[in-house]
Amino acid sequence: MPVFGIGTWRMGESTRRRGQELDAVRYALDIGYPMIDTAEMYGDGGAEEIVGEAIRDRRTRPFIVSKVYPHNASLSGTVAACERSLKRMGIERIDLYLLHWRGGSRLEDTFTAFHKLKAAGKIGDFGVSNFDTDDMEDAAEVDKGQNGSNQILYCLSRRGPEFDLIPWMKKRAIPLMAYSPLDQGGLLGKAPLKKLAADVGCAPAQLALAWLLAQPGVVTIPKSSTRERVKENFGALDVKLSPDVMAALDKAFPSPRSKQSLQML
Ligand SMILES: NC(=O)c1ccc[n+]([C@@H]2O[C@H](COP(=O)([O-])OP(=O)(O)OC[C@H]3O[C@@H](n4cnc5c(N)ncnc54)[C@H](OP(=O)(O)O)[C@@H]3O)[C@@H](O)[C@H]2O)c1
Repeated sequence: MPVFGIGTWRMGESTRRRGQELDAVRYALDIGYPMIDTAEMYGDGGAEEIVGEAIRDRRTRPFIVSKVYPHNASLSGTVAACERSLKRMGIERIDLYLLHWRGGSRLEDTFTAFHKLKAAGKIGDFGVSNFDTDDMEDAAEVDKGQNGSNQILYCLSRRGPEFDLIPWMKKRAIPLMAYSPLDQGGLLGKAPLKKLAADVGCAPAQLALAWLLAQPGVVTIPKSSTRERVKENFGALDVKLSPDVMAALDKAFPSPRSKQSLQML
């Protein structure tokens, strides 16, 4: 799985904004974003349609991540939801398919469906999202082979998962997809981040993303629907952080000292 992609939450919700959103995703691919994160939930399928339009007729196709709603995640429901997502995007395979969050469906059924889809070549791999440590333990109990990813809320201002979830995942080499890496923009106005970014000579968003990318096994998917920000965020891949900057970030945004329940947006 690539380490960087564009997120698409809130895309596909409004016909007025559609042109700009499509342009942002196309531009991201033009400048080299290797991955797109989407979900059947986003814009009620509208985001997947934008993704489909953005990737159509391109020479190389990005790595595509999508997600099934928990209320669709029964055995037959997961297969049907995947088929609908494939159709909306006009593709034959979703590279990574995730259970969006843990809901009422039995994990056994969802994973059985995921295996079926994988065997049929309709998904490349599968995983989960918004699973805290106890959920991951349950998932491992049901299916030891499931280690595609856990996509969670993780950024400088929300370091809760570092206490036990991230060590648990590291031990099992399960990649972490950090969503809302800019805390939906809320992180960018924080004074220590702004000051450190000025010291490093990069934008606050780039510093926040570079901090995530500096961690082995962490992948991230910032969303933007403007070209300038899409480009700025991609620039994070070129930002190298010195041990001094990492230490200053740790001081300004401390790691938790006790268990915090996984937050979800
Ligand atoms: N699995 C889950 O449950 C889950 C939950 C949430 C998100 N996600 C995924 O993760 C992706 C990213 O998370 P997110 O969209 O919640 O939040 P985010 O990427 O942290 O932040 C997106 C917000 O920040 C703004 N922004 C982006 N780049 C910026 C920059 N360089 N400078 C200033 N503002 C900037 C965007 O505005 P503009 O668009 O106007 O630029 C948008 O309002 C989602 O799109 C989705 O694919 C998954």
